[in-house]
Amino acid sequence: MTKPIQIAVIGSGYVGLVAAVCFAEIGHDVVCVDNDERKVLALESGDTLIHERHLPELLERYRGNKIHFTSNLQEATRASDAIFIAVGTPQAENGNADLSYVEAVACEIARALTSYKVIVEKSTVPVYTNEWIRRAIERNGVARRLFDVVSNPEFLREGTAVQDFLHPDRIVVGADSDAASSLLAAIYAPLTTGAYYARPGAIPGICSSSAPPPLLNTSTKSAEIIKHASNAFLAMKISFINAVSNLCEAADANIEQVARGIGLDNRIGPRFLRPGIGYGGSCFPKDVAAFRSVAEQLGIDFSLLTEVEKINAEQKKRFLSKVRSALWTLRGKRLGVLGLAFKGETDDIRESPAVDMIEMLLAEGCSIAAYDPAAIKRTQHELPASPRLHYVEDAYAAARDADAVLVLTDWREFSALDLKRLHSLMRYPIVVDGRNLFDPQVMHEHGFTYISIGRPAVYPARDLELANRPGA
Ligand code: UDX
Repeated sequence: MTKPIQIAVIGSGYVGLVAAVCFAEIGHDVVCVDNDERKVLALESGDTLIHERHLPELLERYRGNKIHFTSNLQEATRASDAIFIAVGTPQAENGNADLSYVEAVACEIARALTSYKVIVEKSTVPVYTNEWIRRAIERNGVARRLFDVVSNPEFLREGTAVQDFLHPDRIVVGADSDAASSLLAAIYAPLTTGAYYARPGAIPGICSSSAPPPLLNTSTKSAEIIKHASNAFLAMKISFINAVSNLCEAADANIEQVARGIGLDNRIGPRFLRPGIGYGGSCFPKDVAAFRSVAEQLGIDFSLLTEVEKINAEQKKRFLSKVRSALWTLRGKRLGVLGLAFKGETDDIRESPAVDMIEMLLAEGCSIAAYDPAAIKRTQHELPASPRLHYVEDAYAAARDADAVLVLTDWREFSALDLKRLHSLMRYPIVVDGRNLFDPQVMHEHGFTYISIGRPAVYPARDLELANRPGA
């Protein structure tokens, strides 16, 4: 086992908290800093605040011994060798990333620097942020020899964040000094040497002691661009498949067959080719906009990204048209909505296309009964219940007396619904599926009108015997 390194993580959001807990899991001593006292108290008492697999058990295992929580950033800085900045970089009005939290943290770190520290930028930031952090610290009177600034972007996905952190495809370290890159190499050594995966009780995943993740050393600027370019590329893949799905609809082809045919080409790969109602979440929309804005500032024409955003916005409008064409008029229609989170297996509704859809449908005069396995509480803050918007306890309650059921989030739970029961509850058996969770043939056999993305719509079999046959 490598010697534990003293690490401070500033910010206890998705990236910060997961990183903090996982650094403890691979053997380091961590102090996690947040300026929100209530959060600190909640985390200290074992409440993870976010819905994320493995996080509660790891927090329970390490809180009070290898991980502590505090709001005192300066003390945490003084006690640590590496200080990871993982604060939010929200989108400013012009699409730029708002870096004011990063700047504030950099200045406060500067006030506590008396011996050499490595400051690590983990939040997603535009190229040149590293330099700005360095300048901000120097402007606060700190000698250059007392610190280095490293860029170490994080690629974790919500819902599988702990596994993604401990089993990454790659670890990227952008460092311009040997001392800094050596410290980062030592921090990640339990993963890169494979030692962690050989340990009893290690969280399982794609890496193993014989296939550990690679660590890629780059310049700080390259690391910053790698993060933005990765997210923009994945968003582009989704917009691409969504555009192809529209083409499939026009040509009466099937996007699932087309996506499989494309994805089997090793150069393309099968992942991130699921069509739907567009990407959402706290990263893709913000990062595509920020990358576009970085390109603009550097005088680069990257209008491809504008198209990616345009297709994504269009996808929601197209879905609304599908609902309209299935129901003729929308005013006064009762809809059952399945899914509020921006994707399945998370309670996060930031930039959720499902929430946008509900707002659009309410504006059209529909009444909605909405269900989500985890995101109702968060949605209620944004869209309070009203005479035309109810939150219900399960998918069947959402379907009761509905003129149509809309599937807006790809929760595994929805794919396993009892279709016979669903059918029996609905006023009209119409399902408009924005995530292609069901097989059109099966929906047909169950007597549904089934409209999905990029696949021919199916209408109920006239032969009712078929729809009602035993076991159907
Ligand atoms: C993403 C990146 O995957 C991750 O590497 C980065 O660190 C943060 O941003 P996340 O936002 O958690 O992670 O979600 P992800 O699983 O990537 O999905 C993003 C959005 O794209 C979701 O709305 C999802 O429904 C949508 N999506 C994803 C599709 O519509 N089709 C796909 O094929 C894949």
